[in-house]
Amino acid sequence: MWSQIAVFGLLPFAIPTVYGWGATGHQAVGYVAMQFLSPKALSFVQSSLGTTYNRSLGPAATWADDVKSQTAYKWSSVLHYVDAEDDPPYSCSVSESRDCGDGKCILTAIANYTSRVVDTSLSATQRQEALKFLDHFIGDIGQPLHVEALEVGGNDIDVKCSGSTSNLHSVWDSGLVNKLVSSNYGNSVTTWANALVSRLNSGTYRSSAASWISCASTTSTVKRSLEEDITGYLDRRAITPLRCPLTWAADTNTFDCSHVFEYSSGQDLCTSSYYTNAVPVIETQIAKQGYRLAAWLNVLFDGSTNLP
Ligand SMILES: *[C@@H]1O[C@H](CO)[C@@H](O)[C@H](O)[C@H]1NC(C)=O
Ligand SMILES: *[C@@H]1O[C@H](CO)[C@@H](O)[C@H](O)[C@H]1NC(C)=O
Ligand SMILES: [Zn+2]
Repeated sequence: MWSQIAVFGLLPFAIPTVYGWGATGHQAVGYVAMQFLSPKALSFVQSSLGTTYNRSLGPAATWADDVKSQTAYKWSSVLHYVDAEDDPPYSCSVSESRDCGDGKCILTAIANYTSRVVDTSLSATQRQEALKFLDHFIGDIGQPLHVEALEVGGNDIDVKCSGSTSNLHSVWDSGLVNKLVSSNYGNSVTTWANALVSRLNSGTYRSSAASWISCASTTSTVKRSLEEDITGYLDRRAITPLRCPLTWAADTNTFDCSHVFEYSSGQDLCTSSYYTNAVPVIETQIAKQGYRLAAWLNVLFDGSTNLP
């Protein structure tokens, strides 16, 4: 199906299912992160994932979508998003108390698996599961319709993509992404990820990268570094709950007011200006989340973000 079919051959679930960011988006986040891991984080990732996932966050990133429809993992399906009860395109916001009141959403899931991945009292299997959830959820939190309640995150809005009937959620998960990767990157997710990495190292993302991991809130003057956020949370003393995932969700959610709902009825979203306007958003979001995932794991295993 895609050029990375060889990777899927290694996995227990051979058929990539198309939800979350879709397989392509999730794998790209993982492959970007791999190139920014510091020594102990890299060593944990490689040994924890092992040959099943080719020792890489790329192939492992889709596991959480593969299992969520299975009986044993049904409970995890609500952890892939936060239902922001805002009013796009007029007003956009995410509030943990309003939108995750029952404590079961992507914000609390990231917190849970952050503490579990470094919990040495858990088994290697449990810590691998925590790592695969973080790998996946830090991707999903960058997809605008995973931080939006309207019309079930766009699932209930029928739209057209390259001549086919689809829904808005699915178009953002995969329709736009797959067209982008096949048109511009030879349909290779690693070629795409490498291009995003070089923009982060020395290209157009270089000047924004530090702000992507600062976790400054847009609505509060309280600044918290990613290190302080994780340390405060793991100490369970000074600072709880986590600030960074909420900052990321709010950042992602702004696109629900600027891009996601900006189309006219009958417009084909994958062959019109909607697509060209979405491309820079999608590429930035994938690069951001890969960089943030690396920063997160670097703080957890090496004590600091260790990023340029
Ligand atoms: C596994 O990873 C190695 C290097 O990390 C890479 O060269 C190889 O192409 C990967 N294999 C698959 C099937 O992706
Ligand atoms: C944390 O993760 C574990 C293992 O997946 C799960 O059983 C538990 O319900 C989670 N706790 C919360 C509060 O989400
Ligand atoms: Zn997902």
